[in-house]
Amino acid sequence: SPQAIVSPSVLASNFADLGNEIKRMMHCGAQWVHMDVMDGHFVPNITMGAPVLASVHKTVDNVFMDCHMMVAEPEKWVKPVAEAGGKSYTFHIEALSKPENAADLVDLIHSTGMRAAVAISPDTPSSAISDDLGNKVDMLLVMTVVPGKGGQKFMPECVPKVAELRKRFPSKDIQVDGGVGPGTVGCCARAGSNVIVAGTALFGAEKPTEVISDFKRQIDESRTGWGT
Ligand code: DX5
Ligand code: ZN
Repeated sequence: SPQAIVSPSVLASNFADLGNEIKRMMHCGAQWVHMDVMDGHFVPNITMGAPVLASVHKTVDNVFMDCHMMVAEPEKWVKPVAEAGGKSYTFHIEALSKPENAADLVDLIHSTGMRAAVAISPDTPSSAISDDLGNKVDMLLVMTVVPGKGGQKFMPECVPKVAELRKRFPSKDIQVDGGVGPGTVGCCARAGSNVIVAGTALFGAEKPTEVISDFKRQIDESRTGWGT
């Protein structure tokens, strides 16, 4: 079954010292770095775009940028993000005017060499991801807060969707994002999530190394219960 991965969300970091903040998390055992791109349209806030990703790519050796695209036109940013060094590209199914276009978008993402992922917001059921789409992507993202800002409260009502998707897609990476920390990672891991995003819980931690290894341990202890 898929391996345990931790992806710290830079939204909780000091943006004026982004390179060092990311290096610190990688040094603490994080394999990925979660880059929250917001465009002021799909969500009200604006964070960063491809130029910032390119600077991180240049500054941080071997960085795996897990790009969470909270943008209204996900097809528009695939090439810029790939050229900036993005390694994984997550689009929101809610951002597509025609969900049946998702397959073409996944092909476009894959043509750049990036991994492709699809995200569902709290109001979107897991059934919005068709079998064909789920089988085509590399990762599924179940949001556990309404996308738009960091530091929000975890929504436990989203967790059953993780279990539904784990059952349908036993070998895929399943990511959770939003309000995840030491107290909430357990239910996500037991439901079948193997990729943990955390902002506040990691950048605010006194000892991020211990939090990251605890996340990985909780995933590894849960996988026997996934029934896959
Ligand atoms: C929310 C973002 C999340 C968020 C996570 O819109 O997609 O990645 O920053 O931050 P925490 O862990 O603080 O909720
Ligand atoms: Zn995110």
